[in-house]
Amino acid sequence: MQQPHSTPNWANKTIWTGDNLYIMRGMNSASVDLIYLDPPFNSNANYAAPIGSQAAGAAFKDIWTLTDIDVEWINLIEQKYPKLYQVLLAAMTKSDKSYLVYMATRLLEMKRILKPTGSIYLHCDPTMSHYLKAIMDAIFGHKNFRNELSWRRSNPKSHGNKNFPNCRDIILRFARSDDCTYNQVFGEHDPEYLRKAYKYYEPNGRRYRLLPLLNPNSARPNLTYEFLGVTRVWRWTRERMEQAHKDGIVVQLKPGAVPQYKKYLDESKGRTITNDWDDIDQVAGNESLDYPTQKPLALLKRIIMASSEKDGIVFDPFCGCATTCVAADDLGRNWIGIDISKKAAELVVERMEQRQGLYRDIVHRKDIPERTDIGRIRKYNSPANRKHLYGEQGGYCAGCSEHFQQQHLEVDHIISRKKGGTDHLENLQLLCSHCNRIKGDRGMAYLQTKLQLAA
Ligand SMILES: C[S@@+](CC[C@H](N)C(=O)[O-])C[C@H]1O[C@@H](n2cnc3c(N)ncnc32)[C@H](O)[C@@H]1O
Ligand SMILES: [Zn+2]
Repeated sequence: MQQPHSTPNWANKTIWTGDNLYIMRGMNSASVDLIYLDPPFNSNANYAAPIGSQAAGAAFKDIWTLTDIDVEWINLIEQKYPKLYQVLLAAMTKSDKSYLVYMATRLLEMKRILKPTGSIYLHCDPTMSHYLKAIMDAIFGHKNFRNELSWRRSNPKSHGNKNFPNCRDIILRFARSDDCTYNQVFGEHDPEYLRKAYKYYEPNGRRYRLLPLLNPNSARPNLTYEFLGVTRVWRWTRERMEQAHKDGIVVQLKPGAVPQYKKYLDESKGRTITNDWDDIDQVAGNESLDYPTQKPLALLKRIIMASSEKDGIVFDPFCGCATTCVAADDLGRNWIGIDISKKAAELVVERMEQRQGLYRDIVHRKDIPERTDIGRIRKYNSPANRKHLYGEQGGYCAGCSEHFQQQHLEVDHIISRKKGGTDHLENLQLLCSHCNRIKGDRGMAYLQTKLQLAA
């Protein structure tokens, strides 16, 4: 059964400065309609904005090494999400694994906060897109995969001395369920296409093209008849055909030619947008803030139009200079964003204010919101938590695996609070006092190594 939507526990137009993992953990479940994320790509680069630019001071790391915390996460994932664990095992290097753990923990939260009608778009490039798709298959379910969109940035990323230069990013689109919101979007027709296809005009100037009336299915005896001297299997019944002919919509260019129907340009919704997005240029001119990796508003507008309704809630957990938020606002959607860099939040406020003070009601937060859809999170060492964990662990210490009575076990944060671990049950375990003293604020890998050395 699908969860009902829950009310957001934050104000519209909130920008957070902080690590999105911890902030998302404080957000209510099923409260967001659309998530777009443009995380670091694992490109082995440090991005920094040019000195003197509006974005100067913004920098983020895209270099990954496996840490104690990653090891803790891998252990947690192994226990709770075995399918996802299999994908992590497939990573080729420790650095890739570290990156994927970082992404997986965050994507698990994103899944939780999406409404059943929601969608998620993950912007990446070929460095990690194959792994990320497998990670998303494991988290969102492979049946919920919808598109691999390919966006052609105008300038190639490398010079092509040894390889074909890359010029495309990849955007993976997943739905939260079959009920996901989707509005087909259309683009402007290409003038060259218009010239070739819509080459006929009515005397009043109305422009049209001619399209075939033949039925692709030849086994339709009741649609097989003679019309204007031509016998074929038609798309329409004889009555409809005759009416259309009377209305002047069906024409025969010369006697004996196969009749065709008129499609007027003013009735066309526009060019069909496929998964190949080659019509949106990289940010340039006035729109550019020189923010490293800034994305164009047009790209975000297309995504937001396709996968949210007016007044829907759009969320970007790696919002950078807030392209998603600005695009959402322009389209009459509600929005929230998070970025770890202080500079990002400053820029966002500036960018918003420059847009004619429209955004005076913007909220800037640094704290972690408190979920209102699960009651208060219990104090970590509350009797209820102890009882729950005792049952879960069957009375064994999670370090040395010795059996103890409940009063001799202590509640431990698997990832210490100093390192961002929370009081949620999934970050808690019971340790005997000996193991707890050894571990302190460190990770389980440290405790296990110490125990092995002592054995
Ligand atoms: C590729 S950029 C996003 C650019 C954005 N789409 C735009 O148009 O400006 C990635 C952003 O993620 C931020 N970031 C990296 N790790 C983060 C984390 N754990 N939580 C929140 N933001 C993070 C970086 O500061 C950077 O601004
Ligand atoms: Zn122990």
